[in-house]
Amino acid sequence: MKNRYIELMEKRRSIYALGKNVEQSEGILQDTIMEAIKHSPTAFNSQTSRAVILFNEHHDKLWDLVEEQLRSIVPVENFARTEEKIDSFRAGFASILFFEDQDVIQQYQNQFSLYAEQFPIWSEQATGIAQHSVWMALAQERLGASLQHYNPLIDQNVKDEWGIPDNWKLTAQMPFGSIEEVPSEKEFLANEERFKVFR
Ligand SMILES: Cc1cc2nc3c(=O)[nH]c(=O)nc-3n(C[C@H](O)[C@H](O)[C@H](O)COP(=O)(O)O)c2cc1C
Repeated sequence: MKNRYIELMEKRRSIYALGKNVEQSEGILQDTIMEAIKHSPTAFNSQTSRAVILFNEHHDKLWDLVEEQLRSIVPVENFARTEEKIDSFRAGFASILFFEDQDVIQQYQNQFSLYAEQFPIWSEQATGIAQHSVWMALAQERLGASLQHYNPLIDQNVKDEWGIPDNWKLTAQMPFGSIEEVPSEKEFLANEERFKVFR
């Protein structure tokens, strides 16, 4: 029998056709996201990861901000495609903003100077793990999500809009919602190219 976690991993995909047909309450979703981040490992248990969960008009506002910022850098002739992409994220139910607390990294660098150079790297790894944990938890709820990176373009707008502390560094944005279209099959490299096993 296949490992059930691996089965769920296969179900977690980047879902770009998102909708608002979500049965779970906002409270349940918020708890699920918070628990997934809480139980994600961090170096020295430093718990550097932070998140902001945006529902309703806050979710819409995020994609308005992204659109506004992109309008200033994307050539007008290409903007229709950009707008379509942003609309697909806005069509989702909610969005999660992932951050890493830079003050905590600094504290650990001071306290464990031998590893000072490693803490920023471990923080980047921690945010990736947190993102994957949330993505998997949403997949378990039969919800779709994708991972977006409009940081640092939107950093200041996000800070101003939701009063985010300066020491929280934005690392990713995750729109999520109902799965309106199943993604196409994924291609994989041959195992021989990726793994070596000695036994
Ligand atoms: C570190 C990282 C950064 C990514 N950045 C983006 C991104 O900015 N925009 C996006 O649409 N997908 C992004 N993705 C999603 C990948 O493109 C996607 O996971 C990959 O193609 C495999 O497809 P799957 O998620 O359906 O399994 C990112 C994934 C990772 C792990």
